[in-house]
Amino acid sequence: MSQATHKDCLLVAEGIRKSFRIGDREIEILHGANLELRRSERLCLMGASGAGKSTFLHVLGLLEPPTEGRILLNGKSTWDLPMRERAALRNRHIGFVFQAYHLLPDLTALENIILPARIAGAYGTLPFVKREAEQEAAEILERFGLKDRLKHKPNQLSGGERQRVSIARALFLKPEIVIADEPTGNLDTGTGERVLELLFHEQQSRGASLLLVTHDERLAERCDRVLMMEDGQIQADSSVVIPH
Ligand SMILES: Nc1ncnc2c1ncn2[C@@H]1O[C@H](COP(=O)(O)OP(=O)(O)OP(=O)(O)O)[C@@H](O)[C@H]1O
Ligand SMILES: [Mg+2]
Repeated sequence: MSQATHKDCLLVAEGIRKSFRIGDREIEILHGANLELRRSERLCLMGASGAGKSTFLHVLGLLEPPTEGRILLNGKSTWDLPMRERAALRNRHIGFVFQAYHLLPDLTALENIILPARIAGAYGTLPFVKREAEQEAAEILERFGLKDRLKHKPNQLSGGERQRVSIARALFLKPEIVIADEPTGNLDTGTGERVLELLFHEQQSRGASLLLVTHDERLAERCDRVLMMEDGQIQADSSVVIPH
């Protein structure tokens, strides 16, 4: 069944199961979900609230271990790697936009954005030059319409501004995979369009792959494929190719 060796597949999920323990009960949320993210594609994941989309993204983004199944990145199995190696891989290859932003509260917008670069510096996978990183972070924040918010802490930003900082952080190291959980969920139509253009431009110009979750049909229409998640599984017949 696996097509993991296929050169166009950057990220592959095979038979992902995920359970959570609540008290003395084990509740399974993902029941064997499969997915293939191809190189340079824009893939959309949709489904009802509670279907397991965010849970699946966290496993795909190497943030949460699956209970069963494998995630392959560039053909290489990831969850059996030592933690440090997996964290370094995630840091260099995957930019993650969280549904709930997850900005660090004590850091300014600018400091939050350069954090992935600091981490890469600590892993020794990229040199970290603070002044250059700050300059680049200021530029990206300006592109996201946040030129006057560089020194604001997350609690001094609106929800939409936090969302934009979180997207800018995910793009900062130019990852080949961007995973975005409802990236425009809290933005007004105009700002949402502008942020989306930036996200799409970034993805397309670098040939990166974008996996996004949305409830917005218009956003889905701008993706190459749409997958439906229902009750912790990807519907087999749900891969719709959107004509552009
Ligand atoms: N850490 C956790 N512990 C226990 N249950 C969890 C945990 N995280 C998620 N769940 C449960 O898993 C189910 C799926 O949650 P998930 O956040 O993946 O849904 P979703 O498809 O992203 O929904 P939405 O569209 O509302 O964001 C929910 O019923 C939720 O209660
Ligand atoms: Mg969700």
